[in-house]
Amino acid sequence: APVKVTKVLCIGAGYVGGPTCAVIALKCPHITVTIVDLNQARIDAWNSPDFKLPIYEPGLEDVVRQCRGRNLFFSTDVEKGIQEAELIFVSVNTPTKKSGVGAGFAADLNYVELATRQIAAVATTSKIVVEKSTVPCRTAESMRTILEANSKPGCHFDILSNPEFLAEGTAINDLFKPDRVLIGSLQTEEGKDACAALAAIYANWVPEAQILTVGLCAFSSVNALSAICEATGANIDEVAHAVGYDSRVGPKFLKASVGFGGSCFQKDILNLVYLSESLHLPEVAAYWRQVVEMNEYQKRRFSKRVVDTLFNTITGKRIAVLGFAFKADTGDTRESAAITLIRDFQSERAFVNIYDPQVVEEQIWLDLDEASPAVPLENIKKQVKICKSALEACRDAEAVVIATEWKEFKEIDWSEVYSTMKKPAFVFDGRLLVDAEKLREIGFRGHHHRPPCSLMKIR
Ligand code: UDX
Ligand code: ADP
Repeated sequence: APVKVTKVLCIGAGYVGGPTCAVIALKCPHITVTIVDLNQARIDAWNSPDFKLPIYEPGLEDVVRQCRGRNLFFSTDVEKGIQEAELIFVSVNTPTKKSGVGAGFAADLNYVELATRQIAAVATTSKIVVEKSTVPCRTAESMRTILEANSKPGCHFDILSNPEFLAEGTAINDLFKPDRVLIGSLQTEEGKDACAALAAIYANWVPEAQILTVGLCAFSSVNALSAICEATGANIDEVAHAVGYDSRVGPKFLKASVGFGGSCFQKDILNLVYLSESLHLPEVAAYWRQVVEMNEYQKRRFSKRVVDTLFNTITGKRIAVLGFAFKADTGDTRESAAITLIRDFQSERAFVNIYDPQVVEEQIWLDLDEASPAVPLENIKKQVKICKSALEACRDAEAVVIATEWKEFKEIDWSEVYSTMKKPAFVFDGRLLVDAEKLREIGFRGHHHRPPCSLMKIR
């Protein structure tokens, strides 16, 4: 029979583990939730007396204020956490590999493997281990192999896959009202019991009809094609059924933009390329590779448009970039389109003023430094200025680029902005956020006299 879980551990206090397990704590007051991380500074921030949390997510602070110290705890003591828990979420990072086999494409599973090995080494009682990171097909299998090969007598591990569907910026809402929760397990007695134990946790707030339980390999391929399903033995009907539950499959996700970003999409697609190649499906690999290339093209085309429109040169000109996060309502900058645009402007020797409501200054310098490895940071700092407001960023600029769809950019007094800029003043709305007609009436010029289809985003 399924165990009744009373102690949950989450390994990895990041964008996935943090919000997910904080919401579990809120919705399940009878469960003690501990979130551990190796990074002391991150844990300190989660524990900070004034709730200066390490990640920004609307509604998160409120959840943490309600639960922290009650049934939600943050710690760096990973071993103690493992020993005490009955169910362990593994939500460590799985970035795209930077070197070695599959570099640039394959997900780096090193962190998942290390966390798994640590569970095996430390556990003295049976555990349900839930793989939460977006990782390639069959990772759960590797986790099982590691755990089984290293377990002590009387210590049994059940491995579940429970992929995350929350989007950054709306994580809390997505967690409160998920379109569906997917849980994959082995179709054995123990596997099904473990699955039921996790389903019972979600059932505290998610209607049972939306909690879908499937065979382990099925949803690892949720975003892939039927060819991949065939090659991996997944059931395409289960995959299609699960995908159909996402309310975003429809108009919510067809907004044109300067390009997509975020830690997941690029990584998942590159990983799909790698997976397709390993499965000897070159046409499928080429298809997904093209999606990433299209996104790069989209960003290149945008910076070229800016240069072309500003009379073919931006050297010595000042450009205001509004928004640095990869999308609105997050402070996360991973794979943000803004980074590529600013690097392009820098290499044209323009001056760039940046304003973002959430991203902290050090993060911007880190990202710009990494984007131009050949340029010393002090030189970048001579060209780039970080500003405290949109108005400050736009002052004396020749052009404004909207790189992130922050709502506050919609509400800017654009006439005032216009009055402080060099003339002719240009605006390039990479998110089709502001009313182009209104801007034109104020006097702005830009690309909006061209058909908006030139900005269509591929997804
Ligand atoms: C994504 C998936 O949506 C989520 O299901 C998964 O669990 C993790 O990865 P996230 O990376 O937070 O979530 O962001 P998402 O909202 O999907 O946006 C990704 C990028 O695409 C952003 O840069 C966003 O601005 C861009 N985008 C999104 C568009 O340009 N147009 C759209 O219509 C939607
Ligand atoms: P994601 O967006 O997938 O949540 P993040 O990078 O935001 O990724 O979070 C992952 C977290 O996992 C990081 O804070 C990292 O320090 C932590 N982490 C990685 N490996 C381990 C490990 N073996 N034990 C504990 N924490 C880990």
